[in-house]
Amino acid sequence: MSWPEMIKSTLEKWGVHRVDGVFDEVVVVGMGGSGVVGDYLQVLSSKRGSLPVYVVKSHVLPHFLDSHSLVLAVSYSGNTLETLIAFKRATERGLRVVAISSGGLLEEEARRSGALHVKIPGGLAPRASLPLMLYSALGLFDSSGFSITSRGEAEKSAVFLEESRELALSVSRRLAEWLYSECTLQRRLVVVATHAPLDVLALRFKNELNENSKLQVKVDVAPEWMHNDVVGYEVPVFRDICVLEIVDPSDSVGVELVDFMRSIYSELTSTSHRLELRGDNTLEKLMYGSLVAGLSSTLLGTMRGLDPLATRSIQLYKSRAPGIFQYN
Ligand code: PA5
Repeated sequence: MSWPEMIKSTLEKWGVHRVDGVFDEVVVVGMGGSGVVGDYLQVLSSKRGSLPVYVVKSHVLPHFLDSHSLVLAVSYSGNTLETLIAFKRATERGLRVVAISSGGLLEEEARRSGALHVKIPGGLAPRASLPLMLYSALGLFDSSGFSITSRGEAEKSAVFLEESRELALSVSRRLAEWLYSECTLQRRLVVVATHAPLDVLALRFKNELNENSKLQVKVDVAPEWMHNDVVGYEVPVFRDICVLEIVDPSDSVGVELVDFMRSIYSELTSTSHRLELRGDNTLEKLMYGSLVAGLSSTLLGTMRGLDPLATRSIQLYKSRAPGIFQYN
C-alpha cells in the first residue's frame, strides 16, 4: 500500500545517477521479483523507448553484447547468484555495467569493478519493492539520454496510484475471496489468461500467487495461445481449472481475444473472474495490475493460514546454488 510513497522517494533521486555513452541496446539481468523489472522495462521501451531491451533471467549473457551494450543487473538483496555471475562475466568481458541493489555482494562487486551502483532502501521483500527498483531504472535511463518514461510521467503515475490504491484494495479483497472459495478450496488450478502485451503482468501475477499464496499457476497469453495451447483443450486431461482473466479495457482486440479464450474454457469450467486494468498508459496499467497482484496474493496467503513473506523453497535453492554453479 505504500507504493506511491516508494515512487515519490525515487523521484527525489531522479537525475542523481546517469550513465555516459551511446548504446545500441540494454540487457537487464535479474531473477524473480527483481527480474520483473526487466520485463516491465522491455514492454515500456517497446512502446516508446529508443533502445531495445533484452531480458536475461539466468546467469547466461547473450553472445552478441559488445561495447555498445549496457548491462543493468538488478537484485534487491544483491546476493542472488545468477545475477552476480552474469554481472561478473559482463565486467570480465569489459562491458558497460550498472547495478541496482539494496546492498549485498552486488554492491561490493560494483564498487570493486568501478561500476555505477544505485542503492535502494533495504528491509523489504524483493517483490514488494518493485517501484523502488523499476523507477530507479527509469530515472537512470531518463537522465542518461535514452528515456523510457519522463520524470513528469513518473510523477503522474505516483498520483494515479495514490488515488487508486483504495480501489485496488477493494478489488484485491474481492479477487482474493474468489481465489480462495472458487480455486483453492475447490482444488482447481489457477489459470491466468490475458492478451499481449500484458503477458509480463500475467507472469507477475503468477509469481505473486506462487510466492505469497504458495499456489501453482498456469499462464495463458493470447493471441499466441490460439496457435498451440487451445488445441490442448480439445481433449483435456485436466478439467479442474479456474480462470483469472486480465484485460486492458481500452484494447478492444485484446478484450475480444480473451472473450474467445473464455468460450473455449467454458467447455471445462464456468469459474472465471475478470480483472479490468485502470490507468491512462502502460506504466500506470502495469503498476495498478501489479498492486492488485501483490495485495490479492498476500490476502489469499493469509486466508490459507500461510505466511505470505516466507519462501522456504527459494531459500533452500539459494543455499544449494553455490554448489550447483561451483561459485565461491
Ligand atoms: O520476490 C522474491 O523474494 C524472489 O522472487 C526474489 O526476488 C528472487 O529470489 C531474487 O532475489 P533478489 O531479488 O534479492 O535478487
